[in-house]
Amino acid sequence: MKTRITELFGIRHPIIQGGMHYVGFAELAAAVSNAGGLGIITGLTQKTPELLAREIARCHEMTDQPFGVNLTFLPTFASPPYPEYIAAIIEGGIKSVETAGRSPEAYMPALKAAGIKVIHKCTSVRHALTAERIGCDAVSVDGFECGGHPGEDDVPNMILLPRAAEELKIPFVASGGMADGRSLVAALALGAEGMNMGTRFIATKEAPVHDNVKQAIVKASELDTRLIMRSLRNTERVINNVGVERLMQIEREKGDALKIDDIMDQVAGIYPKVMTGGDMDAGAWSCGMVAGLIHDVPSCAELIDRIMAQAHELIAKRLTGLLQ
Ligand SMILES: Cc1cc2nc3c(=O)[nH]c(=O)nc-3n(C[C@H](O)[C@H](O)[C@H](O)COP(=O)(O)O)c2cc1C
Repeated sequence: MKTRITELFGIRHPIIQGGMHYVGFAELAAAVSNAGGLGIITGLTQKTPELLAREIARCHEMTDQPFGVNLTFLPTFASPPYPEYIAAIIEGGIKSVETAGRSPEAYMPALKAAGIKVIHKCTSVRHALTAERIGCDAVSVDGFECGGHPGEDDVPNMILLPRAAEELKIPFVASGGMADGRSLVAALALGAEGMNMGTRFIATKEAPVHDNVKQAIVKASELDTRLIMRSLRNTERVINNVGVERLMQIEREKGDALKIDDIMDQVAGIYPKVMTGGDMDAGAWSCGMVAGLIHDVPSCAELIDRIMAQAHELIAKRLTGLLQ
């Protein structure tokens, strides 16, 4: 399949693996890229720019296909040294960067001067238009369904994607709720030129996370995610567990007076406990409603081949058949 996204990133299939904290290591990025998609290393999971450089080098050893790095500009107390992370990306020969969170405007000149293609992930048409204006090459449009931070507008992809198509000139991929060939064909019909998946890629053989995490996703239904930190305007979609129940109880008690410090125990330092330690009740970790569509743990190649075969079948047989 050829779209502006496959052309832009030099990939065989229009499928991107979004950056994921403590999941997007070299093993997963290389597996996705070897399967013909665009694998992405999560920059800030590497605690220093030097460690990111090492992770990029490790990934080059596992694939000769293009892969990218995610740089998340989130409101953090101590701002990471972004220019040094970008230097590691450039020196590592990376040609694709997924930005997310705040606008990447300040860093665009450095990224563009190095010939890097920038895909900015955002949750609204207005932010997508800003990304286009500041020179991003593509946008990842993240609907309300998505795992992680869906923003505060609550517009699901059935509306958000065609709205993006009405406004944008640069290509975009659909993100949030994407799982299979049906998702890809629907995304294409709504105007996207590919799809970005997070949660689906966690439940793969190569995702270097504890098996408990993969099984929790397979077990979860579309009813098992919760939105937290709404009153802090930092909404996050997470899988429900004992830690999240505790957090939501605190949110109910504090109401609008809630401060981030009140829920620190449930949100800070949770990812290593869950992803490495397999402690499923440690606290909040991102997961999409798409968990309801995830029933197995295939390899990345099996997953991507299956998606593309299903998409071809849907377009060539089911949809074309409807025209007769
Ligand atoms: C466990 C997990 C961690 C994530 N961490 C990040 C992150 O650090 N930076 C980022 O930009 N997006 C992050 N995301 C969002 C994904 O890149 C992607 O946009 C999202 O998962 C898409 O929705 P889906 O899960 O329905 O596929 C994370 C998602 C998950 C599930």
